[in-house]
Amino acid sequence: MTWRLKLKNKRKKGKYKPYLENQTLGMIFEKSSTRTRVSFEVGIHQLGGVGLFLSSNDLQLGRGEPMKDTARVISRMVDMVMIRTFAQSTLEEFAAYSRVPVISGLSDSYHPVQLMADYLTMVEYKKDQNPIVAYVGDGNNMTHSWLMLASKLGFELRIATPKGYEVDAKILEDALAFAKESGAVITISNDPKEAIKGATVVTTDTWVSMGQESEKAARVAAFQGYMVDDAMMSLAEEDAMFLHCLPAYRDYEVSESVFEAHADEIFDEAENRLHAQKAVMVWLDRHRNS
Ligand code: CP
Ligand code: NVA
Repeated sequence: MTWRLKLKNKRKKGKYKPYLENQTLGMIFEKSSTRTRVSFEVGIHQLGGVGLFLSSNDLQLGRGEPMKDTARVISRMVDMVMIRTFAQSTLEEFAAYSRVPVISGLSDSYHPVQLMADYLTMVEYKKDQNPIVAYVGDGNNMTHSWLMLASKLGFELRIATPKGYEVDAKILEDALAFAKESGAVITISNDPKEAIKGATVVTTDTWVSMGQESEKAARVAAFQGYMVDDAMMSLAEEDAMFLHCLPAYRDYEVSESVFEAHADEIFDEAENRLHAQKAVMVWLDRHRNS
């Protein structure tokens, strides 16, 4: 946390220390991105290095070159890699063959760098003291990363998903094991109202993640009753914060009214991607080979 705030404060003063001078970050994308691409590319530039945007469609990967070969080539030329993939196993295969640190920029299973920005935003809004976080929606990569954050840091997380869209059983098992150590209280249900009651932080995510476009109609039908609207928000604590990783689909997972009422928090959260991602890169560089 210290690094994230330190880098953010330096940026406010217009100062960029070249912690990663002359380093190159390879950024491989199998999926679309606005925030992840811009935060990493601008972030490495502000740290004195350069970002290389590599779309899997343009790489030889798109013509069938194996990921493990791609990893062995790229990691001999760059200093760090950020990769956004469909399967988590693709990312892990890349990391297994890479000579340099590999950062997850999202997979179907997790979105860890987003959660670093989310937690920074909770700290800035003083919502990190004994938080009760309610996640209402799809049991997806964001939910799994909330599970990791809560279970590692030891706070209360209530997850409500429709039947059939629950979190992954193995990831939940891992989180419950971490929770035993940290004291986190994790509740899983199919009741969004019960989850939100008295929450200090409410969050959700798209009902249709990247790669699930063909399931849209079935998903929208299954998620009826899960939109975070004013009535739903009124069940949370009076000054509860609302977070969304974006992109946000109005009048699906969140109403226009809730979104705009919490726009300051949401766009601070989006800006914090930059500061958090810079901190991840500096931290990884300092812990290289350790
Ligand atoms: N929240 C997030 O990761 O956004 P992008 O998909 O635009 O990178
Ligand atoms: N769950 C969403 C997150 C987007 C940042 C997706 O994977 O598409």
